Amino acid sequence: MAQPPSDTTVPTGLDDVAAALAAGAGRTRAELESLVRIPSISADGHDPAACRASAERTAELLRDAGLEDVELLELDGAHPYVTGAWLGAGPDAPTVLLYAHHDVQPVGTPEGWTSDPFEPVERDGRLYGRGSADDKAGILVHVAAVRAWLEARGSLPVNVKVIVEGEEEIGSPNLGRFLAEHGERLRADVIVLTDLTNWKVGWPGLTYALRGMGEAFVTVRTLEQPVHSGMWGGPVPDALTVASRLVASLHDAAGAIAVEGFADDVRAPSPQERARIAALGGDVEAFREEVRLRPGVELVGDCEVALWERVWMQPTITPVGIDAPNVRDASNTLLSQVRVKLSCRFAPGQDPERALESLRRHCEARVEWGAEVEVAFGHHNPAWVTEPTGPVWDAAVAAMTAAYGREPAALGCGGSIPFVEPFSEAFDGAPCLLTGIEDPATNAHGEDESLHLADFHRACLAEAFLLDGLAAALRRTQ
Ligand code: BES
Ligand code: MN
Repeated sequence: MAQPPSDTTVPTGLDDVAAALAAGAGRTRAELESLVRIPSISADGHDPAACRASAERTAELLRDAGLEDVELLELDGAHPYVTGAWLGAGPDAPTVLLYAHHDVQPVGTPEGWTSDPFEPVERDGRLYGRGSADDKAGILVHVAAVRAWLEARGSLPVNVKVIVEGEEEIGSPNLGRFLAEHGERLRADVIVLTDLTNWKVGWPGLTYALRGMGEAFVTVRTLEQPVHSGMWGGPVPDALTVASRLVASLHDAAGAIAVEGFADDVRAPSPQERARIAALGGDVEAFREEVRLRPGVELVGDCEVALWERVWMQPTITPVGIDAPNVRDASNTLLSQVRVKLSCRFAPGQDPERALESLRRHCEARVEWGAEVEVAFGHHNPAWVTEPTGPVWDAAVAAMTAAYGREPAALGCGGSIPFVEPFSEAFDGAPCLLTGIEDPATNAHGEDESLHLADFHRACLAEAFLLDGLAAALRRTQ
């Protein structure tokens, strides 16, 4: 019989489920690879047919796992969401909503990849490919856990609903509409997400906080059209210099945010939140290494504040793109117009619209030399925080501890998942368990994204155990 990993302690009575999972591991891996081969980039300018194909493949996988009523839920202008359910545990059993997303980020610089981003390959126990971890492995964790139960028992200990989103990586622009139209059929007592990160390889993480996110587009204009820099250069300001100076004004010389009012409503962490962060240690050298900072490059901002408090509980403003000629196409001209995309992360307490308005005021007040500036906002969503306590949290700690042989670290997350706050809210504050299979080496969104395969199997086991744990935990609290 197939065996779970040696550091796993299978909870009493779940040997058959763990064995079914181990026996299906090869199939689960092959199914993950089939999803990674689909270049489901949700960003504008990429073929939406790929997101449709990944939605269809996801639907097939959910059906094959034994889920029922599997369908693509369509909204005009949105990449398809995929849903399915298994409600055989009956009306008195709790209902768990399992969330993941099937869309991925663009590949960035193709030359930066060691192998084709959409041809999964294993190297040193890791599976490389765009979406291998974020978040196609998250889909397969749900598939594998459900399948193991249905194969071993023909039933699940809880009712399960599944939602696999197709537009998470672009900020879930249609989530409000989706919630209004389809929210009710997804109603659940608890939400389990597999789109987060473990603390280290072999050391699971359970996340209690997400930052919010928002984007701003800043356009600077100085001239009606680009002009010859030899003919006019000197007295005439170019748009790239103006835009660069404006971007530079967003931070002070130490790298702290210098936009007046931007961070006024940031909530200070509670003593308990601070203690939790302190318990993880804040070793600067280890941090530098994990993020792969170049030697000599300094950390910026307020170095008095704990590193992880800064990443999880404080806001940022980062320029992430600029519309200006490529170096290859650059001619000797004074540029007339430049557009910059700013990406902001919001801390707990912050009102995104208020913060973005302060950014607009800053740009209008600080743009130099009389240049025109126009500021537009993209999508935005607030931070989300929960208390890492209670029977549902404890059930997740127990399931992960059993699967990994190590208690999960309670983590914040500097990233965002727009789904969490509105759905938890709509389900009367239903608890959300944020788990996942990224780790510090995953490099999600970057080049050579990868998944740790042994931890992937542990994550599948943890979810299979969790379904049982939730049945017990929610029975007790009801
Ligand atoms: N899986 C990430 C969230 C995440 C970030 C987990 C960092 C662990 C560490 C998610 O898919 C993501 O990247 N979300 C976007 C959302 C945004 C577009 C609103 C993000 O945070 O950039
Ligand atoms: Mn993700």
